[in-house]
Amino acid sequence: QFTPRVFSGIQPSGGLTLGNYLGAMKRFVTMQDAGTHETVYCMVDLHAITAKLLDPAELRDNTRELCAGFIAAGIDPEKSILFNQSQVPEHTQLAWIFNCVARMGWMGRMTQWKDKAGKNAEAASLGLFAYPALMAADILIYHATHVPVGDDQKQHLELTRDIAAKFNHDYGVAFFPITEPVIEGAATRVMNLQDGTKKMSKSDPSDKTRINLTDSADAIARKIRKAKTDPDPLPEAAADLEGRPDARNLVNIYAALADTTPQQVLDQHAGALFGHFKVALADIAVDKLAPISTEMARLKNDPAEIDRTFGSRGRTRPRDRRPDPEPDLRYRGH
Ligand code: ADP
Ligand code: NA
Repeated sequence: QFTPRVFSGIQPSGGLTLGNYLGAMKRFVTMQDAGTHETVYCMVDLHAITAKLLDPAELRDNTRELCAGFIAAGIDPEKSILFNQSQVPEHTQLAWIFNCVARMGWMGRMTQWKDKAGKNAEAASLGLFAYPALMAADILIYHATHVPVGDDQKQHLELTRDIAAKFNHDYGVAFFPITEPVIEGAATRVMNLQDGTKKMSKSDPSDKTRINLTDSADAIARKIRKAKTDPDPLPEAAADLEGRPDARNLVNIYAALADTTPQQVLDQHAGALFGHFKVALADIAVDKLAPISTEMARLKNDPAEIDRTFGSRGRTRPRDRRPDPEPDLRYRGH
């Protein structure tokens, strides 16, 4: 009944990390190139102001940088729709309706809300609380059926399904699809390189160890060399990485970069010490990531090219579904 369609978004909240790449963007490109789904990707700038109101110039720069990241990672505006959330006002219109569908109790149970609001929820913005309803609107306004995301978004996607189901039930129509999260691969949750119990995040300004997609080859190699590990060699079985979060994180990163599984990485490297394994990991990371950072740097020097690309070619849009809005999806870098 619903066209197979992928939607996903990334916040222009400054910097893109290895976690964003392996958990989201790399898989966006795979799904785009598979040709089995329409693919719609969004720079969700309205989400980026929920934690802290950004200066407009900063938000604009972040959005251009994110756009450069999408292109450098392999998103092709001929094959995918790539656009900026705030330029399609229907996202916020549907979000309002979803604010009236979602229950306070559902929203209050969101762990990301609890983490981000911290102890002082009274001082958090209303937007931070309503964030997942806007996210549901981003997805459902295109009647997207599949949403590739990192593991941290799983709960928000369950909420998206609950909102769609309640709307459909209350109005007695099968209007919105019940969206499938696509949380796949070896690195659905890339962890902090100094503390394998914490997520690597671009929204965490205190994390100086994260690998950014703009990092030079030297910086990537240095951060991997410095990553925390333990003195034991790599085990033979992936199950034996249990209880070794830092070790497991590096194996998962290697597997995702090499398009393989953690077990296959161990089949190759069992018995190696981390000093040795990190050399191999740095090699593959530089190999896969440095071209992205080079292309991002090139685009950064020519912001007009980003604006031009999305002014002339980024016009494709979801066709043939009447409930869709008729947005102008051109990226103008506002
Ligand atoms: P961040 O959490 O870095 O601010 P966003 O909230 O914009 O990033 O998330 C963009 C996408 O990147 C989401 O699909 C999210 O699940 C994914 N993502 C973010 N951090 C990681 C991570 N450490 N590992 C895997 N995926 C991640
Ligand atoms: Na996130």
